[in-house]
Amino acid sequence: MTSQNEFRAAAMRALEKAVTWREDGPKLPAIPTATAQELRALFDIGLPDDGRDGVEVIEDLAAAAERGLVNNTHANFYAWVQGSSHPVGVAADYLTSAWGQNAGIYQTAPAAAIAEEIAAKWLLELLHLPETSSVAFATGATMASFICLSAARSEVLKRAGYDLEEDGLIGAPQIHLFLGEEAHATIHADLRYLGFGRKNLIRVRCDEEGRMIASDLAEKMALHAGPKIVVVQAGHINSGAFDPFTEIMPVARHHGAWVHVDGAFGLWARTVPQLAHYGAGLEEADSWTVDGHKWLQVPYDSGFAIIKNEEAHLRAMGISASYIAGRPEDGRHPSYYVPELSRRARGFAVWAVLQTLGRKGVEEMIARHCHCARHLEARLKDVPGIRILNEVALNQLAIAFGQDEPLETRDAMTKKVIEKIREENLNFVLGANWRGQEILRISIISRQTDTRDIDSLADSILAAWKAVEAEGPV
Ligand SMILES: Cc1ncc(COP(=O)(O)O)c(C=O)c1O
Repeated sequence: MTSQNEFRAAAMRALEKAVTWREDGPKLPAIPTATAQELRALFDIGLPDDGRDGVEVIEDLAAAAERGLVNNTHANFYAWVQGSSHPVGVAADYLTSAWGQNAGIYQTAPAAAIAEEIAAKWLLELLHLPETSSVAFATGATMASFICLSAARSEVLKRAGYDLEEDGLIGAPQIHLFLGEEAHATIHADLRYLGFGRKNLIRVRCDEEGRMIASDLAEKMALHAGPKIVVVQAGHINSGAFDPFTEIMPVARHHGAWVHVDGAFGLWARTVPQLAHYGAGLEEADSWTVDGHKWLQVPYDSGFAIIKNEEAHLRAMGISASYIAGRPEDGRHPSYYVPELSRRARGFAVWAVLQTLGRKGVEEMIARHCHCARHLEARLKDVPGIRILNEVALNQLAIAFGQDEPLETRDAMTKKVIEKIREENLNFVLGANWRGQEILRISIISRQTDTRDIDSLADSILAAWKAVEAEGPV
């Protein structure tokens, strides 16, 4: 087979498999049926000495994977906070792979570089953030916050007269880092990668929704002199709550702190006029993290680091060597904004999804998901024994079961309800522990989910609760 024929045959077979899997989505189980052991047996078919026919390999790959695929492209997926890979984004991703561009520098991938440049401009427009901000196309929110906090670290030290890039972290003035006691786990990981020890983080108290208490921040900031960073949150992982930015920003500004916003999913609320008040004031921050692969539905991996001060961004991330040096006529060098050189051309899929949804499509989808969250709340809130623990403002619900029983019994009942919903295998749900109690976490974020899907989820939750209640305390 010529290599051209080989590509056509393998690509067409893969496309057929992909399309069938997506079309079959509603009929497939929500939760994968294969165990880890079964999957190992399916994949471990031995490393061949001689190469194999490409079409056969694609067939074998699909056969091995399909029983272990989570159906998170389907409307009834409510676990974690995961977008559902928009079909046009997926199609753009096929092209991205086929084109095989290395979006490191402009010269290795001019089209990819300009696609990022333009998509970045549209993202800033859509999110109502300063249009001169610089945008990195990262793998997700974890790396986006890493990038933003790297720039923050460099900049606050520079303002204190210290050159981090030249003199390094050892011996640098201490940076005081303030974050909510309910900051997302990935922020803690980022801070660890960046050399902030756990003991040095200054945790700010939060209210019952997980929102930072601004007066506590003010008191704690007043106790420390020197360079400061404040990490705030737009969209709490369980409640969806936003920190009170209009109260926080003046405090942080007073202390000359860099403010970073983790808005992995919540920042998208800024695209909906009726929800914009939740994020009021956050445009005053210095950097923002938001995911493409969450509410925007871009296929994995897609996250954006947005930084007001481009110079600090480039200082923290830039890579230089003569063989990759830019020329005056070049466009953007994508790798200057991320801790990577060789990299996937992530901008194409973002460009394609933004074009396909348009401003109104993004707004409609996010507004619909938030409406769905309130619809689910309305279906459950008056049922004895079902407690919705958060103010349902965005797309998240934290639900607990049981009423007057001891905490241990209520936790066991909540776990039982989750188990029963999962056994039914119509909806993909999971639990968590929030503020000391077990919860059923619902994140409404799949592109197609509407109130009919929510009615079916509510029916499943109600049936599961009824069964657990009938069985009595566990
Ligand atoms: C608030 C928040 N920050 C960060 C993350 C991590 O995002 P990613 O998995 O894209 O790195 C999440 C994921 O749900 C999140 O909700």
